[in-house]
Amino acid sequence: MKRSLSGIKPTGVPHLGNYLGMIRPAIELQQTHDTFYFIANYHALTSVRDAAKLRQDTLNVAAQFLAFGLNPSKGAFFRQSDIPEVTELTWVLATVTSMGDLTRAHAYKAAKDKGEEGALNLGVFSYPVLMAADIILYDTDVVPVGKDQVQHLEMARSMAQRFNHYFGETLKEPKELVREDVATIPGIDGRKMSKSYDNGIEPLSSPKALKKQVMAIVTDSKGLEDKKDPDTCNIVNLYKFFATAEELNGIKEKYRAGGYGYGHAKLALLEKLEESFGPARAQYEDLLKRPNDVEDILREGSKKARVIAQGVLQRTLKACGIQ
Ligand code: ADP
Ligand code: TRP
Repeated sequence: MKRSLSGIKPTGVPHLGNYLGMIRPAIELQQTHDTFYFIANYHALTSVRDAAKLRQDTLNVAAQFLAFGLNPSKGAFFRQSDIPEVTELTWVLATVTSMGDLTRAHAYKAAKDKGEEGALNLGVFSYPVLMAADIILYDTDVVPVGKDQVQHLEMARSMAQRFNHYFGETLKEPKELVREDVATIPGIDGRKMSKSYDNGIEPLSSPKALKKQVMAIVTDSKGLEDKKDPDTCNIVNLYKFFATAEELNGIKEKYRAGGYGYGHAKLALLEKLEESFGPARAQYEDLLKRPNDVEDILREGSKKARVIAQGVLQRTLKACGIQ
């Protein structure tokens, strides 16, 4: 069975972009793949400076993943830092990574373009190396991610290739798996939904908070009676991921006919979200009351993951003469 691996940073609550772009495809792959999924707390440490928050968010994100339907008894579900081999492999991969590649990485380049690269920590600069180690450490075949992570996957592949070039065929070259239909989910302002733009809809937040987020979706200023264009509307662009083809056509017709306001459309979207996520929210709230159970699941997962990690690391260290 091919192995699918992915990670998510515990920096705040997952939004619909994370869910549709990564979490749902990752869970679906449990049907056909050996799945390794983890909470990337070492990556989060490049930006989080509150220990209690990092600890809590790690559990929250794990609980959300489970509430969304991840089956932890299939494959391995674990915390990145529970596998210390990942930091060892990071060093080895750093020695086959060119500075040129790292300076072209999006996160670094964006900071540089703003003249802020001096303030970045080394962890941000070498983020793609740790991510490559995450992937390569488990002989991963495919990595389900949103489009924004493709560059990181290209870098991981080139590290594996370079290592293999110097030391012989040792590391598996991973491939990204980007579902085109959900490659970039738009946020409430129409830009890519992202924690850094604060434009997210967080499907497991309280009904009140969810309503507030949906009501904040940005639209043009057309009035109730006006005819509207569904294809450029931020509400419809989210609604389409949760509606049947019939429901989607129905709302599009109402837009074109006029007499249907953005407020109505927002409530229709809210209803869909409640329908899709109500049960998951209840499960999430239940899991939060049982943090020790979540902890146990992560610990079990890391036992399984660690066996694989130790094998791959040893193979790597032997290949390059460290062992
Ligand atoms: P953010 O941009 O909010 O910080 P992350 O970088 O933590 O999100 O992304 C976690 C996962 O969710 C990644 O696989 C990423 O590709 C995916 N993802 C994030 N935002 C979106 C989006 N708007 N559309 C599709 N996938 C997304
Ligand atoms: N960089 C990814 C993100 O921001 C998170 C991540 C860390 C990851 N390690 C990974 C994703 C390994 C896939 C595979 O979303």
